[in-house]
This record gives sequence, structure tokens and C-alpha cells, in this order.
Amino acid sequence: MASEINFLQFDPVYRQLQKLKVKVREENVSPEINAEIERIIDLIKIRSDYCDENAASPSKDLQLIMDATVRHPWQTAYDEGKLSFLPTPLMMIGNLEAQLLRSLTSMGNVKRVLELGLFTGCSALAMAESLPEDGKVISCEIDPYIANLARSLLDKTTCGNKVDIMRGSAKDSLKILAEKKMEFDLIFIDVDKSGYSLYYKMIFDLGLLAPGGTILVDNALFFGDPYTKEGFIGDGGEGVARFNDVVRQDESVHKILVPIRDGLMIVRRKEDVGKSN
Ligand SMILES: C[S@@+](CC[C@H](N)C(=O)[O-])C[C@H]1O[C@@H](n2cnc3c(N)ncnc32)[C@H](O)[C@@H]1O
Repeated sequence: MASEINFLQFDPVYRQLQKLKVKVREENVSPEINAEIERIIDLIKIRSDYCDENAASPSKDLQLIMDATVRHPWQTAYDEGKLSFLPTPLMMIGNLEAQLLRSLTSMGNVKRVLELGLFTGCSALAMAESLPEDGKVISCEIDPYIANLARSLLDKTTCGNKVDIMRGSAKDSLKILAEKKMEFDLIFIDVDKSGYSLYYKMIFDLGLLAPGGTILVDNALFFGDPYTKEGFIGDGGEGVARFNDVVRQDESVHKILVPIRDGLMIVRRKEDVGKSN
């Protein structure tokens, strides 16, 4: 069921080709050109499916969370005033990225994970599944309805007990964690895009990233907006573009923007990735 989500919507090339397909039909362009456009769209889809097929399958628990997220009556809950905004299942990372998170979490003795942006628990559970028994994910969530839903879903899973939910804003949570002198080996940022630059600065200023730690940042390509400047969805693209600029100009870190799904930025302190000239 989770496979019903069309993650290709993140890609502006795919969206542009879909528009072109309609235009070509309307304007009676030659069947050959029509067929060529269909083939290009197919190839994008086939490549994406091929990546999905060659990734590890989700655990039963992860599948449970992804299916529950797709099935959840979000519109009804929103209409009843239970939610502060109308969520979409596209907000969860999905299996391909979840398996990448599992790989990255299982590398380099990661034990303490901080997540900004829990939603229904897909990414939190993926990381928890790759932690040792005494490992922990602390995940921040501002919306009480979503936090409750995530807790009830995580409680149905084997590794959900490794996920602690921190209710409230990411900004307040970062301050509280710093007051408690906590440090994290892995920090996954997947929260309000306007706050990305602030959270990045706070993480370093407040000493929340442990020595040798890694920061992962989702939606670094935000529907293509940081480079198309189209403003496809609200002002999230501006927040992400600002954040990407901050990271690009930060000489103290090693960074790589991986074009998986909606883009994943990986940031590590320069000294942790070895010397280069
Ligand atoms: C993109 S979703 C996270 C998806 C999740 N990582 C996953 O893969 O399933 C972002 C979540 O962050 C929450 N959120 C938004 N702004 C926040 C803030 N300032 N502080 C804490 N949580 C916030 C939203 O309610 C939403 O559930």
C-alpha cells in the first residue's frame, strides 16, 4: 500500500514531462514524438522502481507504519480540528530512504540518535531497527495528535521501545537537550524547512553533535525549488535553499547532497572524513 505514494512528484523534470505529455496530445503532435515522451517518462519510472526493487525490503513493522500512514483518515482528523495542518503520506521518507538510514545508522558505532520531525515514525523506526539494544532515538514532534498516533504505532513494533518522543517545538527541544548536556552520534533533520538553518546552527553552537557525529538532512532538493526557484510548494524551498547555502559556505564541514528521493544532505566535521589537499 505504501507503494501507492508517487515519490517521483519530487522531481521537477518528471513534473515538466507530464505537462509536456498533455500538451503534445492536445496539439496533435506526431505519434512518434508522443511515443518518445512516453518512453522518457517510463524510463524515469522504471529507474525509480529498479532502485526500489534493489533495496532491502521493509521489516513487517516498518511496513505496518507506512501502510497505517497511507490509510490514516488525515482529512477527517483535520476537518475535526485535531491537527494543526493537513499532513500527506508523502511526508514520510518511504522504504528506499529508510533503508539508506538503516545503513548509515548501522555504521560507526551509532547509539544516540536525534530526529527533528517524527511524523508517524517511519524514519525513527528505521533508525531504531539498526541501533544496538541500548541505543536510543529521541524524536521531536510539535503536533500532539501526530505524536500520539506515532506512539501508538511504534508501540506495536519490536524496536519502537527504542524511540522516545519529545513533544514540542524542535527549537525548545534542542535547548532542553543541550541543558541536559546530551550529545548525539547521528542527527536527522526532517522538520519545518524554514527552521533548517537555525537548527543547524543550534546543533553546533549547543554542542549537540558528538565527536565523529553525522547530520543527515532530508528534502535538501525540496521539489527542485532550491535550483528551479519555482516555489512549487509554499516557501519551504527558500528555507532549504538558505540552509544549503549555509552548509556550502561552512568551511568546517564535509558535505554531500545525495539525490535520493527529495535529496539527502550528509554533513560531517572535516576532521572526521580524513585529510585532503
Ligand atoms: C516531514 S515530517 C517528518 C517525517 C518523518 N521523518 C518520516 O520519515 O516519517 C515533519 C514532521 O515535523 C513536525 N514538525 C513541523 N514543525 C516542527 C517543529 N518546529 N518542531 C517539531 N516538529 C515539527 C510535523 O508535525 C511533522 O510531523
